[in-house]
Amino acid sequence: MHTYHTPLDLVRERSPERPVALARPGAVAVAARWFQDNFKGDVFYAVKANPSPWVIETLADNGVASFDVASVPEIELVARHAPGARMAFMHPVKSRAAIAQAYFDQGVKTFALDTHEELAKILEATGGADDLSLIVRLAVSAEGAAYSLSGKFGCEPHEAPALLLAARRATQDRMGVSFHVGSQCMRPTAFQAAMAQASRAIVRAGVMVDVVDVGGGFPSVYPGMVPPQMADYADSIHRGFADMMVHEDTELWCEPGRALVAEASSVLVKVELKKGDALYLNDGSYGSLFDAAHAKWPFPVKLMRGGAGEANEVEGPLKPFRFYGPTCDSLDHMPGPFWLPEDVREGDYVEIGMLGAYGIAMNTRFNGFGDAETVAVEDAPMASMFGLAGRSIRLPREREEEDRKVVRLSRPKGSAGKKRRRR
Ligand SMILES: Cc1ncc(COP(=O)(O)O)c(C=O)c1O
Repeated sequence: MHTYHTPLDLVRERSPERPVALARPGAVAVAARWFQDNFKGDVFYAVKANPSPWVIETLADNGVASFDVASVPEIELVARHAPGARMAFMHPVKSRAAIAQAYFDQGVKTFALDTHEELAKILEATGGADDLSLIVRLAVSAEGAAYSLSGKFGCEPHEAPALLLAARRATQDRMGVSFHVGSQCMRPTAFQAAMAQASRAIVRAGVMVDVVDVGGGFPSVYPGMVPPQMADYADSIHRGFADMMVHEDTELWCEPGRALVAEASSVLVKVELKKGDALYLNDGSYGSLFDAAHAKWPFPVKLMRGGAGEANEVEGPLKPFRFYGPTCDSLDHMPGPFWLPEDVREGDYVEIGMLGAYGIAMNTRFNGFGDAETVAVEDAPMASMFGLAGRSIRLPREREEEDRKVVRLSRPKGSAGKKRRRR
């Protein structure tokens, strides 16, 4: 992977025609080390968030030795780029062929389930193996999360005790519980509440668990979303774990996806046309901008202009723009608003930040587009949960409001003076 000092250097040297994924391995390394140093348990990276080989390798080089995988291709990817890593097959619904391949060909022994049927499938597909770690996924509240992950998976509280008991009886090895509080969880106490719910299910089942897996959900920074400190999430989990009915050797696991990679990638796109407040770009909802289109997240942007060995960041009065992607589908629309200098024009480049999680990972080849190359850059991300940049991205409207507050705050000085003079 070629390295440029900054995205501007890439524009200056190459004026790329295709979208470019900008990789910041340094940011992945910092996030990985934060989790190693602050989470009192095992960290499994949720590969789905960003399966790029450079991500897997950087995590492995920085102490992440465990991976949450959801498919055989993800297992093969991890085996290739982090040889010897431990893997947990955490998709609650797997084909018999995938279970057998994971167990017999790749040595995967940890499997998630949320039904008795899946438990039977796992036991049959592994030939009645007695060395399995069976993790029962519980449905928990997703209040406080931008994306709920409880609708599709997770065993309901009234069904949990019977399934926990069946899983306990089915393995000589480890049995545990897991849940997912929802992605981009803005409330640290959601973890503690979910752990209390898991603890109640364990007590009702009358079993001991060997693993408590708190899943993913750790947030990143996006415009309009300023999460609490990451340390608050670790505190909530550690407090929740201390209150659970578990034995002394019960292991604590987590499966962060977004938090490890979100800030570590942005995408450099080219403006192909400006039509009023709409910018037509060479990447879109079928490429890296799925969340910008479907969740309507207004990702942070920077404008660059360059060519023939020159390039500059463009500043100036900002205006809200919408984006269209390159495909012929009208759904390929990102409403934003994306605040860019009003004189943005065809041929300019836009760096769209905070796309390391569920950005590149969502790329399709629809309509012949989506073929992005990846280069490394060495500058800081646009925002950071780990001290590499600010922990908030203010929208221009918020900036204006804050400026007005400053003006209002400075007024009383004068008015107080007037009052004093009147007295
Ligand atoms: C089982 C499981 N674990 C972990 C994750 C990662 O979640 P996040 O990216 O919100 O940390 C997901 C996301 O879908 C998941 O399904």
